[in-house]
Order: sequence, then C-alpha cells, then structure tokens
Amino acid sequence: MTTIREISAPGLAERQAAVSRKQSKRAKRDELQRRFADRLVVREELSRKFVSYQGNKTQPGLRWLRYKEGFSADLVRDALNKADGAVLDPFAGIGTTPLIAGGAGREAAGIEIMPVGIHAARAISLAANGVKAETVEAAGGALIEAARNGATAGAFRFPHVPITSRAFPEKTEDEIAGARRFLAESDDDNTRAILDFACMSVLEEASYTRKDGQYLRWDNRCRRNLRGGMDKGPIPSFTAALRKRLNEILEDIPKLEEIYGGKPPRLLQGSALEKLAAMPDRSIGLTVTSPPYANRYDYTRTYALELAWLNFSKADFGELRQALISATVENRSKVNILNWKYPRESTLIQAKTAFREQAALQEVLDSLNLQKSELSNPHVIRLVENHCFEMALVVAEPARITKPGGRVVMVNDNVQYHGEEVPVDLILSDIAETCGFDCEEISVLPRGKGNASQQMGRFGRRELRKCIYYRHMPKFSTAPCA
Ligand SMILES: C[S@@+](CC[C@H](N)C(=O)[O-])C[C@H]1O[C@@H](n2cnc3c(N)ncnc32)[C@H](O)[C@@H]1O
Repeated sequence: MTTIREISAPGLAERQAAVSRKQSKRAKRDELQRRFADRLVVREELSRKFVSYQGNKTQPGLRWLRYKEGFSADLVRDALNKADGAVLDPFAGIGTTPLIAGGAGREAAGIEIMPVGIHAARAISLAANGVKAETVEAAGGALIEAARNGATAGAFRFPHVPITSRAFPEKTEDEIAGARRFLAESDDDNTRAILDFACMSVLEEASYTRKDGQYLRWDNRCRRNLRGGMDKGPIPSFTAALRKRLNEILEDIPKLEEIYGGKPPRLLQGSALEKLAAMPDRSIGLTVTSPPYANRYDYTRTYALELAWLNFSKADFGELRQALISATVENRSKVNILNWKYPRESTLIQAKTAFREQAALQEVLDSLNLQKSELSNPHVIRLVENHCFEMALVVAEPARITKPGGRVVMVNDNVQYHGEEVPVDLILSDIAETCGFDCEEISVLPRGKGNASQQMGRFGRRELRKCIYYRHMPKFSTAPCA
C-alpha cells in the first residue's frame, strides 16, 4: 500500500530506501564511533591558531617562511609536558617540533621529505646556534647589492620548470640571477645557508603567484595563458622583499638563542617511511607530528617556486610527488616498492594486517568502489587506500620506537569524498591500538572544517572533525616490537 506522503512527494520512497541503504553502509563506521565515543572529546579551549601556522606568525624564526601547513610552537610546548625523553617529528615541515624541543634542551629529531622545510629549519637552527648577526648583516648587504646589480649569465638564472615559468617580472629574474651568482661565490657555508634561505623565502612575494588552497594561483600580469587569473595587487621587487626579510632575520637573531638554542636538533631529509625504519626500538619518548592529510593537497605544486630555487628538475618533481605520503589522485601505490625495499618485514606485515582488518576503512573503500562511475575522479579511491596503508606503517613504526610510558601527539583532519566520510581519526586510532598504543583521547576542535564546495552542493554541509590525537605506550606493554 502506498502512503499519502509517498503520493504527495514523488520519489520519496526511493529516497528513503537510498538513505537507509546508506545508513547500513555506515554500520562499521558507526560501530567504530561508538567504541571511541567516550574518548572523542570536544575541547572548547582548542583554537585554530593552536593547531595551525597562524600561531607562528609572530614567533621569531618560524615567522620567516609562511609554511601554512605548520602547527604552532605553543602546541609543541604543551606536548613537551606529556612525556620525557627524545622528541621526534616524522613530518617536520619547517621544524616546529624539533626546533622547540631542542630549544627546551631535549634531544630532538625531525624527518622531512621536502628540502624546503629542511632549509628553513636549518637556517633557524644555525641562526640560533652561533651565527653572528653582524656577519649576516654584512653579507646580507653585499647580497642585496649583488641582486640589485643583477646578472645575465645563463648559469645563474632561476632554474625554471614548466610549472614555474614566467613566475617573475623580468627585472626580478635579473635580480634573482644576481643573488644566485653571489651565493655561488660565497664561501662561508653557514651564512650562505641563511642567506640562501632568505632568498627562497621571498620568492612567492616577489612573484606573480600566490599559494592558494591546493595550487598556485597566478596574477593576470604573468605572460601565461590563464583561464582565471587574479589580481595580486602591488608586487615588491625581489630586492625590496629580501631587504624586508633580512631585517626580520636580524631583528630575531638575538632572541633565537633563548628559544631554540638548547640542543641543535637532528634534521633528516628523506621519507618518514625510510627514516623511521632505521630508528632503534624504544628510543623515542615523545612524537609530536601532523602528517599530510588525505585531502588532495599537493606540496610539490604549492612549493614549486621554492623547489625550483633548490634546483629541482621536472623529473625530480615527479619523483618527490610519488615519495610523499599519498594525498593526491596522482599518487601511485607504494606497496611494490615497500615489499621490495622495506627493511623491517615484521612492521610491514603488521601494517598490512592492520590496514586489511580495519573494517570501517574497508567499508569506506567498498562504498566508494560501488559508486566508482559517479565519482568526479575515481582515483580518489586509491588515494584513500594508499594514504591509509602508508599511515598504518607510520603508526606501526612509532609503536616500535616509542619507549614504554612515551606518547604520540598527532594533529589530523578527517576527509570526505562523494559524501563518504573517511573518519581518519578513528581508523588510525584503531590501528594504533592494534599496534600496542592506548588511545587516551581524540581532542576535537570546537569547529571542524567544511567539506569542499562541490561536495557541499550535492551532499549537504558536513563538518569534518579536526583533531589532536593523544596516544600512550603503556609502561608494561605486552605488545611485541614488530
Ligand atoms: C602538515 S605538514 C607538517 C608541518 C609541521 N608540523 C610544521 O609545523 O611545519 C606535513 C609535512 O609532511 C611532509 N611529508 C609528506 N610526505 C612525507 C614523507 N613521506 N616523509 C616525510 N615527510 C613527508 C610534507 O612535506 C609536510 O611538510
């Protein structure tokens, strides 16, 4: 029998059936949510400033590069109270964790795959540990003079790749070449590293580009074929931007020793997937980190100018993109490479098992696969799959290297594709428990992130949780070191 509501609202029955199909397709996620319900705690006191780079805008040193993907020095200071021992960040970005931890006198290490972040962290660490302001001031003056004089020799021109071509006005190209010649001829390694970083840090400001969401946006004045350019407003010359940055650096240097001058951290450039595997069992007391989110964000595109400054060729860009933790639709599976090269077979098996047996994750993947033909890009399925598998490994290794009584503090965002919520926080927490951690709390920010506008139109607005996870390695852990 058809009810009156169904007659007056054509299609209602189908819609209701679809809704209930969808609800039953969430069963595993709902179950997981119920299991973690008492540990998912909304913390009113948590601000976006605390978990983002906004908190570093006035922080001496860390303010030198607008690394929007970073978190605040205050978050790290707070985490330092949570466990003793050596501190690690396997996704160190510009080094907020190792720099602040080292400054507090802790043994600290940061792993970061992008040379951009390592360059920044090294410059801050050098400036905090003995490089003299007078030396930087004198060399900086000479650098500005050299940049102003420019250079025409091909060897010193900005080494563009296709995605950076025409990023600068012609005069800026000449000034950059002058600066590169000066740096190539400079023989004081530490001062050169700081000045080289200073030049890299102003490229965006002096260019026709702006880092914006997932890509670089381009100003209409660049001579590229643009579909929708923007007006960036006044663009300073390279030397003007550089002078401003050098002044900031000189102003900060006297304050740096107190903030970061305890123990210079170890800064390891490379993939966390390799470097974590090389760390000894039970050697780390505290990990404070924020991995790349599964949100299609491409670091190699956002930081294209900086990578090109560091002489990355087009092939190097491709290689780096694949080595990053999978977060884009272009990332291919790393399973074959890991099977072939990963030095710790037992951890790899542990991660594979945890990934395969994580029912809520498998539910998301099944659901996306069933809707594959409707997805705006079917490769989001492999994005979620690759991301979660790699993150399972990134959870399993800290379970091996964390000392009993140690902790992991991790900032992360949930994501959603085609209306399918991926509760990354719960999935990774469950995997962490299978690896031996106690998940103490998933602190939720009072305001999450909205889903992408295309998804909002189709699937309604849903706030995606932004969280800080707190994990503890029990003192008397019976979990085997994988
Ligand atoms: C959310 S950011 C972390 C920022 C950092 N907390 C800070 O304050 O600057 C994630 C970082 O992970 C890095 N990353 C991505 N894949 C990596 C990998 N396989 N190994 C190491 N670092 C990686 C990215 O380059 C990025 O800097």
